[in-house]
Amino acid sequence: MPYHCATVMFIRVNCFLLMLLLSLVTFKVKGQWQCPDPEDIKPCHCLHYNVSSPVMDLDCSQVNTSAQLRNVFTQNFPTKEMRNFKMHDNPYITVVEDGLFEDVTFQEISFKWGHVFEVQPNAALPSRERLESYEFTDNWLSSFPFEIIPDYTSLTHVWLSNNNLSLIPQIQSESLTYLNLGSNPLLPLSLDVFSSLPKLEWIDLGSTGLTDIPSGLFSNNPLLKHIAVDRNLFTNLASDTLACGSGCQDIERITLIFGQLQTLDPGALPAVSGLLVDLSNNYITELPQEVWKPILKANVTVRITDNPLSCGCDIAWLVRDSSLSMAPQAECADGQTVDQLKPEDFENC
Ligand SMILES: *[C@@H]1O[C@H](CO)[C@@H](O)[C@H](O)[C@H]1NC(C)=O
Ligand SMILES: *[C@@H]1O[C@H](CO)[C@@H](O)[C@H](O)[C@H]1NC(C)=O
Ligand SMILES: *[C@@H]1O[C@H](CO)[C@@H](O)[C@H](O)[C@H]1NC(C)=O
Ligand SMILES: *[C@@H]1O[C@H](CO)[C@@H](O)[C@H](O)[C@H]1NC(C)=O
Repeated sequence: MPYHCATVMFIRVNCFLLMLLLSLVTFKVKGQWQCPDPEDIKPCHCLHYNVSSPVMDLDCSQVNTSAQLRNVFTQNFPTKEMRNFKMHDNPYITVVEDGLFEDVTFQEISFKWGHVFEVQPNAALPSRERLESYEFTDNWLSSFPFEIIPDYTSLTHVWLSNNNLSLIPQIQSESLTYLNLGSNPLLPLSLDVFSSLPKLEWIDLGSTGLTDIPSGLFSNNPLLKHIAVDRNLFTNLASDTLACGSGCQDIERITLIFGQLQTLDPGALPAVSGLLVDLSNNYITELPQEVWKPILKANVTVRITDNPLSCGCDIAWLVRDSSLSMAPQAECADGQTVDQLKPEDFENC
């Protein structure tokens, strides 16, 4: 091979390699999905699981001052659309400030097991079209900017359990499906508090010191699947308290365990086939026919263990109708189980 041909080949191959290298470099720099430089965002960590997918999470649990946290978001973020922001078990950040995230946006923001006592209304503003889950479980919140919720058009999950929330205004959202307000010292709930949540499927109001549930509280939540009102103080459930007006055909589970419940009025619970109602560990003594027969006839499963059932004439109707039963573990105050009782025992009723 003549000398100059070899040179030309050499140059061509090198040119090709150089072009390839350049295109790789540009691809990396212009690359759509890329974490910031790890040094820039210390002590946060950016996790990018898979270079060919846009899923990136940011964990800032190790941050120890709010200045440090603000500084992280002034750094260069090649990708501004991330999936998850997490700050767990952090005792230093107490105020989630307006504008904190600069122009970086998230689908999920989770401050959990911390000392946050204030969430400013515009803290997550740039994420308002992307945010799906906003979490402050187990913090020190006495208030929350509920008024911003309607602006967050993708928001489905709000987690506020284990805080110090008391007065809840009417919450409005076209997208919210999950709301956890459990373990807060809620004041009496106003009738309209959930009436503008047409998509609500799952609500937890356990351990909130409720002494009353207003009749019709869920009448505008036709898609409810799961209601938890465990460990509260009310002694009676009035008609249409846990039912949803004429809706609620998808309801699957109602739990009301470890409460003070003694009596229910007819129509307090929805009569929907396949529903499980757990009333274990309350103070129910009687099972009047007008309350329970429509529920059992509708194929609702009722758990009523650890209640001091007197098993007097009030349950004669149940013992006589072999097609109906409470969950078999239900026990009378004298220790017999309800399903051991025989119609003969109720001849005098
Ligand atoms: C990476 O993400 C792409 C696109 O989402 C996906 O097709 C691929 O299976 C993922 N690879 C791994 C190893 O998870
Ligand atoms: C805060 O974090 C920085 C860097 O991560 C560290 O050097 C410093 O010791 C930390 N301070 C405290 C009080 O933990
Ligand atoms: C809880 O909230 C009440 C009233 O909103 C306030 O008086 C009390 O100090 C708060 N407790 C804590 C531990 O933040
Ligand atoms: C009754 O409910 C159970 C679930 O608890 C379900 O599997 C069953 O199909 C229902 N029966 C009827 C007749 O709807």
